[in-house]
Amino acid sequence: MKYSAQKGTKDILPADIFRWHKAEKVFSDVCHSFGYEEIRIPTFEQTELFARGVGDTTDVVTKEMYTFNDKGGRSITLRPEGTAGVVRSYIENGMASLPSPVRMYYNITSFRYENVQKGRMREFHQFGLESFGSTGPVIDAEIISVADVFFKKIGLKNIKLRINSIGCPACRNKYNEMLKDYFRPHVSSMCEDCQARFEKNPLRMIDCKIDGGKEVVQNAPRLIDHLCDDCKAHFEGLKSRLDAVGIKYTIDPNIVRGLDYYTRTVFEFVSENVGTQGTICGGGRYDGLVENCGGAPTPGIGFAMGVERLLMEAEAQGVLFEKNDSVRIYFAGMSEAASQKIAAICYDLRLKGIGCETDLMGRSFKAQMKYAGKSGIPYLSVIGDDELKSGEVRIKCMADGSEETVKIDAIGEYLTDK
Ligand code: HAM
Repeated sequence: MKYSAQKGTKDILPADIFRWHKAEKVFSDVCHSFGYEEIRIPTFEQTELFARGVGDTTDVVTKEMYTFNDKGGRSITLRPEGTAGVVRSYIENGMASLPSPVRMYYNITSFRYENVQKGRMREFHQFGLESFGSTGPVIDAEIISVADVFFKKIGLKNIKLRINSIGCPACRNKYNEMLKDYFRPHVSSMCEDCQARFEKNPLRMIDCKIDGGKEVVQNAPRLIDHLCDDCKAHFEGLKSRLDAVGIKYTIDPNIVRGLDYYTRTVFEFVSENVGTQGTICGGGRYDGLVENCGGAPTPGIGFAMGVERLLMEAEAQGVLFEKNDSVRIYFAGMSEAASQKIAAICYDLRLKGIGCETDLMGRSFKAQMKYAGKSGIPYLSVIGDDELKSGEVRIKCMADGSEETVKIDAIGEYLTDK
């Protein structure tokens, strides 16, 4: 029997992991620089949380969730995203009593039963953050600038920010009625999903994957033209704050986002290179979500970015992440006594935090030298009986071939200075 990774899942191999470590480090550093702390939430939650939180007219909830009954008969779902779980934790852990805004970031796997294609997986990774307690628009602009600073620190170019406002429930209700009147003559010729959305949530017809390209959808009234005065002022506030910081954006009235919890600000960072899967980061405000999940009315806003898409984009742009040379030196042993001494030297170096390697395969001296040459480890030292007697070793720099003599006790210091 030959097993293979499940469709839509992928191994991240040791040869590639340095890219992930780099992106994770930059993301957490940037989040810390804005005052965010990390939260780790469980991989699964009760299904009801996502149905209520993410919304039962969304594709994510109706078609894409990994849901099963556990042995206790509870309906469990692997998280399709992070926001609902963070909101649940915010409420459950009484975080409303903390000073506002309560700011958290996360690095999670998410699960969606999707049609697999490039940049669209069934298990994928998200960097995200959520902020609770501020109605904005100042925090909306700050959230956007976290992502913007992150992209700059990673070295990505040409990531375009698109923003929109989808209003509050009051302007949305009015708009939904307007949309119904508009779509009523056409709805019978639209897809099954749109027919259901027409009754439940007409706004969702705007980003239908099947009908979205049709003229009738393209010409539909736009919510941004029908915002109430408060929502208009909020959106103007966001724009002026982005202008003040110097973050460029375009207004895209077609962004409605695929999840139901959004209110007012929605935004996406889109790559010019990656076509239909070009949305690297998406987010927005969700002022009703905490209340909807059983908490006190609390405004919130956040985003998540797909790490696979981010790294694909980095590769497409030729952004080079440097491999971390954690192993600094290879010791080749010429005798059993030398290899015993090398084991002790390595133990000591590792306690000092200096990475080193030696033979673990019983290789001949010649084979050890061949391994060292191929390994990419930057320094090499050969230890035989002479070195054991003198207490000194030669350390060779593999990049330029230069050699220096170093006392065995001083190897750690020597490598630290390099
Ligand atoms: P989302 O737009 O569903 O939002 O996902 C955010 C990002 O996750 C997408 O822009 C994309 O890069 C990545 N992504 C989504 N689905 C897949 C997939 N099947 N394969 C690979 N990457 C994928 C959310 O998840 C919200 N929770 C964001 C948020 C946080 N809004 C407020 N707070």
